Amino acid sequence: MAIWGGVAFALSLAMMPLGLGALQEDEQLGKVTYDRWCSECHGVDGDGTGSAAGYMLPRPRDFTLAMYNIRTTASGDLPTDQDLLRAINMGAPGTAMPAWDDVLTEAEKQALVQYLKTFSRFFPLDENPVPLVLGSPTGVSEEVIAEGRGQYEAIECWKCHGDQGRGDGESAATLMDDTGFPIAAADLTENWFFNGGADVEDIYRALRTGLDGSPMPNFSDVLNAGVMTDEELWAVAHYVRSLAPEDTPGISEVVLAKLLTEGAELATSFDDQAWEEIEGTYIPLVGQIIVKPRWFDPRVDGVWVKAMHNGDDISVLVSWSDPNNSPDPLWSDWKSQVTRIMEPREAADNEIDAAPDQLVVQFPMQMPEGMERPYFLKGDSRRPVYLWEWKSDRQTALEGEARGVGTESFQDEGQDVSVKGMHSDGQWQVVFTRPLLTSDENDLDFITGEAIPMSFFAWDGDNGESGNQGSLSSWYFLLLEEPTSTKVYVAPPIAMLIAGALGFFIVRRVQKREMESFRS
Ligand code: HEC
Ligand code: HEC
Repeated sequence: MAIWGGVAFALSLAMMPLGLGALQEDEQLGKVTYDRWCSECHGVDGDGTGSAAGYMLPRPRDFTLAMYNIRTTASGDLPTDQDLLRAINMGAPGTAMPAWDDVLTEAEKQALVQYLKTFSRFFPLDENPVPLVLGSPTGVSEEVIAEGRGQYEAIECWKCHGDQGRGDGESAATLMDDTGFPIAAADLTENWFFNGGADVEDIYRALRTGLDGSPMPNFSDVLNAGVMTDEELWAVAHYVRSLAPEDTPGISEVVLAKLLTEGAELATSFDDQAWEEIEGTYIPLVGQIIVKPRWFDPRVDGVWVKAMHNGDDISVLVSWSDPNNSPDPLWSDWKSQVTRIMEPREAADNEIDAAPDQLVVQFPMQMPEGMERPYFLKGDSRRPVYLWEWKSDRQTALEGEARGVGTESFQDEGQDVSVKGMHSDGQWQVVFTRPLLTSDENDLDFITGEAIPMSFFAWDGDNGESGNQGSLSSWYFLLLEEPTSTKVYVAPPIAMLIAGALGFFIVRRVQKREMESFRS
């Protein structure tokens, strides 16, 4: 009846700023937005069991538990609305959780925050969670960082994160989240994947609040117990910040192979001093989800590449974080869990095969004309690719070729490429060396001054990766510095570089499309 509607309206105006009608509208907007954008992963009922959930690790969050990683509140407390809004805006880098800041309107995001809370019976119990008072950062210096390193050892961050912070501590293979799924200790050298942000303030906050739902503890208790001072905890945060590069690596499409000066020795091993003179290029890798079987839990999310040549030979150093040298019995439990969770049908096979870590570097078999490049997934019959394959259980690299996925073949003799690989402190460092020119017509000749397409595939055997299930990059370029004048090489075809950048976005777009096809 109209009169009751009018009364309700008047009442709602008196009761709260939003008004009852608006509140219902908000809830409606929250539900519609959630069902459309979130439910395939998080489930219609918010319990983390959407139709696509089985394809990913970490699993989409179960909102009925009200357990949130990134908060400003104490460990065990509920997040504030602002915390939830931040999580929605920023997503969780390095996981399937997208960032929604550019996708949804402010009203939709606000409505989602309220709607997420309705999934859990805990939110009505504490309507105003209070953020911790965190203070401001202390200054940073060499001494502060050294102090932080000392504390990192003393309070045993290394047990999970490893001596050099690459997620390779002695407990790393056994970590599980609160819902029983294996979880990786964050790689502290890649702070661009931190869910709560990369700044020293963000790191300090994560230390004070802990990441609820994960094994990452909170260190407020240590402060309160007087075991450590606030200054010392800030020092830890500064130390962690110092483990990652000053700036997040930008997308740079070209790896410049530096020309050595007369008489300088070509580095053929990872520990050669000469590498220190050369700046690394970071190349992001993503899980292979274009052909079946797909892989949604890639371990290797990027490689650093350096290169040098002396006019006769070239050396390429590729390094990446990987907690262990596979196969390793300490990680066999982790491996069987991941394979069981990610792919129940083939788990039995995967468990039997002890798989090594692997790296494949891909080039076109012939230098392409203009902008043409082979299909980035191992080429095709018209534009085949030339490959270098390295495996952790073998001392040699193999040269090979492919004309599409599954057609890879490797030469068993007459290798022109040699390799040296080493695993230490949660990192692989692998150096390939080859003459620029070879007599084999299926080996690409490396000509100085040409932008040579190059891309990477990587596998962590003990993360259940082999075959098509690993990570890959799009095309980048290897450019051998010219002997004569710098003018020649500073202008590789710009169009090709742009195409290189696009290549990566194409991978992202294909992935997105694949993701959407799961939803529909
Ligand atoms: C493609 C799958 C996917 C979609 C779509 C998705 N999420 Fe997530 N979400 C995840 C995963 C996976 C995690 C767990 C990340 C982690 O544990 O690091 C997560 C975690 C979260 C968290 C917890 C963050 C924290 O700090 O603990 C929130 C909040 C969240 N999602 C909200 C949303 C909302 C709202 C939407 C829709 C607008 C959405 N998600 C859509 C996969 C998804
Ligand atoms: C028991 C194992 C364990 C210990 C001990 C531990 N961490 Fe963690 N830490 C983790 C795990 C697991 C994650 C990843 C959580 C996730 O992905 O949700 C993590 C994540 C982090 C992150 C990333 C935060 C973000 O925003 O994503 C930082 C930084 C960090 N830890 C620093 C430390 C420091 C410093 C210490 C010691 C003071 C420490 N951790 C002790 C297990 C641990």
